[in-house]
Amino acid sequence: MNAEMLDELKKLAARAYAPYSHFPVAVLIRDRNGELARGVNVENASYGLTSCAERNAVFSFVASGFEKPAELFLYTETDSFTAPCGACRQVLMEFDPELSVTMINQSGEAKRVLISELVPLPFGPKDLDDVR
Ligand code: THU
Repeated sequence: MNAEMLDELKKLAARAYAPYSHFPVAVLIRDRNGELARGVNVENASYGLTSCAERNAVFSFVASGFEKPAELFLYTETDSFTAPCGACRQVLMEFDPELSVTMINQSGEAKRVLISELVPLPFGPKDLDDVR
């Protein structure tokens, strides 16, 4: 994790809207050309409507017209590494099972996995072909 990227993630986490959990999450998604999309978690007084940083970043990435997501960086202000929730894993898996997911803690330590490692036995676009 380079210092510039960590700085960007920390600044992004400060923009999270997390008044209920006090658990800010920042996500950067990069395509193969180096284009970056950003996401933070956005909570709601109706708690169940909270939207995670990962999905917000994916939606921004797609709306920006970037190429397929290649790398995702997930930062939380914790000592441990935070992995994407189950719903976000499903959404991230949509584009590429080889998507690189790097979890970063507040010290800048990083742990990298592939999204396919987080989603064994996935349901995906190919499963829909069976009915066509
Ligand atoms: N959250 C994320 O944004 N991403 C994760 O990977 C885990 C959880 C958010 C949702 C909620 O705003 C807060 O973290 C606590 O669950």
